[in-house]
Amino acid sequence: MKRHFAPTAKSIAWMPFLIGLLCLWSSLASAEKPAKAAVASAHYLATEAGHEVLANGGNAFDAAIAVSAALAVVEPASSGLGGGAFWLLHRAADDHQVMIDGRETAPAAAHRDMYLNENGEVNRDLAVNGPLAAGIPGHAAGMVHLAQNYGRLPLSESLKPAIRLATEGFPVDEKYHSLMSFRAETIRRWPAATEALLVDGENPPVGHIIKLPDIANTLRLIAEQGFEGFYKGETADKLVKGVQEAGGIWTHADLAGYTIKEREPIRTSYQGYELVTAPPPSSGGVAIAEILNIVEPYKISDLDPVKRIHVLAEAMRRAYRDRSIYLGDPDFFDVPVRLLTSRDYAAGLRASIRLDRATDSNSLAGFEDSPKGTDTTHFSLIDTDGNMVAATLTVNLPYGAAFMAPGTGFLLNNEMDDFSAKAGAPNAYGLLGYSANAIEPHKRMLSSMTPTFVLGEEKVAVLGTPGGSRIITMVLLGLLDFIDGNGPVSWVSLPRIHHQYQPDQISAEPDALTADQIAALEALGHTVNVRERTWGNMHGVMWNRQTGEVEGGSDPRWPSGRAIVK
Ligand code: DON
Repeated sequence: MKRHFAPTAKSIAWMPFLIGLLCLWSSLASAEKPAKAAVASAHYLATEAGHEVLANGGNAFDAAIAVSAALAVVEPASSGLGGGAFWLLHRAADDHQVMIDGRETAPAAAHRDMYLNENGEVNRDLAVNGPLAAGIPGHAAGMVHLAQNYGRLPLSESLKPAIRLATEGFPVDEKYHSLMSFRAETIRRWPAATEALLVDGENPPVGHIIKLPDIANTLRLIAEQGFEGFYKGETADKLVKGVQEAGGIWTHADLAGYTIKEREPIRTSYQGYELVTAPPPSSGGVAIAEILNIVEPYKISDLDPVKRIHVLAEAMRRAYRDRSIYLGDPDFFDVPVRLLTSRDYAAGLRASIRLDRATDSNSLAGFEDSPKGTDTTHFSLIDTDGNMVAATLTVNLPYGAAFMAPGTGFLLNNEMDDFSAKAGAPNAYGLLGYSANAIEPHKRMLSSMTPTFVLGEEKVAVLGTPGGSRIITMVLLGLLDFIDGNGPVSWVSLPRIHHQYQPDQISAEPDALTADQIAALEALGHTVNVRERTWGNMHGVMWNRQTGEVEGGSDPRWPSGRAIVK
């Protein structure tokens, strides 16, 4: 006799429980996707641009284009069409992770000694101001690459919010005004930049509306023609003419020959979490892997704050020394990534660390190094399919080279200063470098930008920040805070400390350390330099894969930043 399933009185009594179980199972299964999307960026108008494109059917990669383009308009101090970027992507459908390398390249006529004067000293003005300081931009090519390979929407859709912002205008915010107070004098050397970004030659007040119709026009050309819209034709003509007339060395062939590189991310693990982060030509991923490998056996979460800072500073010191010697564009220099990120190598470095005394950086045999940084920009986002983007975009120093080619509306970067202009001579961040990062035609200059994913069994973090060479240590502190169980509002607000080998000191934000902690670190032999200003501008998002919950955090140090979850 056949047995059929028929509800008995007993099974009917169980029914609500079974339905409950089924609901729980299906909610757990559906939690494989985020319940909401999150976008966190340095400017509320860029965050809103990302959500607008998501609401119009775009995925995370379309949203990344929208945020990148909007930041290029509303935050000209930090990034732009005249600059470069790294976009770290996670595509949920096939778990594909890749870094889109839109870093600037040296023009073909660039050469190793191009910033040295007759005495062999670096001419700092040429290295950071004006068109000779600018590398061939990668920002526009990166957006086109994202649209063609990862997005769902045409560029005409994903660039729409930025075109609107450039046409209708946006209000000057505190960051625009404050960073312009340092750069207005240099901007005034070039009429097109003065016209576009100053008002009657002066720093515009907070709230003043800036319109950038020439950027709107360039974005429209990119929307219509893709790569050609920027690197050939009208825009390329204006760029090459403007640059050459002002003493620069760009050619049409430099622009037409620019290529995006897809790079395999650095992968490492720490306390059960998988890290996916920026590979060369960024130094960030390698340095973070090296630092985590060194500190892992110390179980730093269990140490008292002074010991924890001491151990971290000792690991930072060693990783930054290696950065100055071994890191550069991997297409030009054989960066020993596998060695530097290996646990055996870290064990060797760890062997020289003492818990009761700071190491003298000079005893490690090396060179001088030091950072600063109030510029560049970062955003983090996640869509409801679980696609993620962490992107750090830059024109290098605030307002880049301060130079604008007439008719373009955007500033050129001064990223050439991220090369080592002379072996052992510091750049704007005090960073040193040697042949690995020497200037060569078509080479990418070494970066510290470190867009990062941290993947745990339960939770996933997407983070990054600007801040010159301090980017690496900020991302490190942020991800350690995540691994300690905290959310993005905590990572982005954390007080920051930093060590970068040379100068041999722990830098600290104004209120990061108590007087007792400073005294204890000094007793260990550290020099502690409490800075007058805070640094960085971190924006992160977190997804709980089990509950589906999504959170965002935007650095409280600059008020225009915004994290929106919806
Ligand atoms: O790529 C780099 O490492 C630098 N150009 C980043 C500059 C930066 O973060 C400036 N801001 N704070």
